[in-house]
Amino acid sequence: MNVSIIGTGYVGLSTGVGFAIKGNNVICMDVDSKKVDEINSGIAPIYEPGLEDALKDVLSKGRLRATTDIKEAVHNTEISFISVGTPSKEDGSIDLKFIKSVAKDIGKALKDKEKYHVIVVKSTVVPGTTENIVLPLIEEHSGKKAGKDFGIAMNPEFLREGKALEDFLNPDRIVIGGIDKDSCNVVRDLYKNFNAPIMVTNPRTAEMIKYTNNAFLATKISFANEIGNICKQLKIDTYEVFKGVSMDHRISPHFFNAGVGFGGSCFPKDVKALVAKAKEVGREAKILKDVIKVNESQRRIIVEMLENRLGSVKGKRIAVLGLAFKPDSDDIRESPAIDIIGMLKNKHAIVCAYDPKAMENMKRVHGDIEYAKSAKEALKDSDACLILTDWEEFKKLSKDDFELMRGKVIIEGRRVLSKEKGIEFEGICW
Ligand code: NAD
Ligand code: UGA
Repeated sequence: MNVSIIGTGYVGLSTGVGFAIKGNNVICMDVDSKKVDEINSGIAPIYEPGLEDALKDVLSKGRLRATTDIKEAVHNTEISFISVGTPSKEDGSIDLKFIKSVAKDIGKALKDKEKYHVIVVKSTVVPGTTENIVLPLIEEHSGKKAGKDFGIAMNPEFLREGKALEDFLNPDRIVIGGIDKDSCNVVRDLYKNFNAPIMVTNPRTAEMIKYTNNAFLATKISFANEIGNICKQLKIDTYEVFKGVSMDHRISPHFFNAGVGFGGSCFPKDVKALVAKAKEVGREAKILKDVIKVNESQRRIIVEMLENRLGSVKGKRIAVLGLAFKPDSDDIRESPAIDIIGMLKNKHAIVCAYDPKAMENMKRVHGDIEYAKSAKEALKDSDACLILTDWEEFKKLSKDDFELMRGKVIIEGRRVLSKEKGIEFEGICW
């Protein structure tokens, strides 16, 4: 099939490359001409394991190209996926400005296209967006009728950063929320060679499945952190507790890792957007509000622990290992490290940070701290160390590496160190 992807960020590029791997002809469209040029030259604008090699491969086979021209993308394909960002507004509610702008542009491009075209919303959007905002805007700007001249569907994406391509190609399930059978059938056809169950529903249910999924995973993490904070006071190993709990066949063991909490471009914004949507329809999302509060408090707790151990952090050299919101990613959006470094700066600590991939991005937020070339360099002569991302590299650090420190305070936010190596550290929840 000929497929266009509108908005070529984490999701768009993984989707584009993924559909090309599956044998489709893909046109990636983005307003950012630098990204488009990079993609056409075989450079992935983001760090994702395996993505750049896969991109080079599909480019060499002529199965993918990128453009800034939406009309070219829509006219040369049968189906367009919208995968632009859906950030939060100040009040936490969803900001649909990119979605609206793309819907208008697609409408204009469809105006003089004769053939039937299907538009699929892949971005995470609050229930009702596809039917009540995207569809009417496309009708208005194309002068055409949904269900007759064009089809509309919502197909949420469940991939994780760091495993984007792998997750896209091997999903647990594919959810297709269409306005009618024709729209659903086109999307279903595109996914026919994926080995996953397909669930067909209406667009607003598909939209709600995505939010419920992310909200539940975020809730599991905050629940694990709340239990972890209690365990810490009771001198109980929370990881052992969850090992025992997860043996119950009704409870899955995943996403129970207590620590410094969740970050990223999705959990924080999606939980807030759902809270705001609930408010809009007259309901208070009490649990979800607390999920956010617990998550934010983990960032303060780790700094408080540091102060308890050091007395004051003023003038102390703090090695911060891990800046990305998760390993195998250069993404720092909503990363706990941003707030924690901010708090340390406010308290006049000297921060020396290291991350295998995310330092360039962090320099744009905190340009006034020191950056080390390696974990060892960051540790050297530091008074204390905080571990904020569970990079494999940090798991390999030895007792000797930590002995480069001037002080002995090591506070672990991700459970990467093991006492078996003889390293003395304190875990945030253990
Ligand atoms: P992103 O910010 O990485 O990428 C969005 C892209 O859209 C950018 O390249 C931007 O230049 C482009 N864009 C903006 N306006 C445009 C326009 N008018 N026309 C064409 N392109 C335009 O975002 P992302 O992380 O890929 O997320 C996209 C959506 O997918 C969001 O709704 C997000 O919640 C959802 N999602 C993200 C992930 C993830 O892991 N990042 C996973 C699942 C779902
Ligand atoms: C998450 C979901 O896992 C994806 O299914 C979803 O598609 C995506 O959001 C999205 O909608 O964008 P992602 O944010 O890439 O994916 O990363 P996760 O692996 O879910 O991790 C999110 C955060 O939670 C990270 O900061 C991670 O360190 C933290 N986390 C995760 C914990 O603190 N504890 C855990 O047990 C698991």
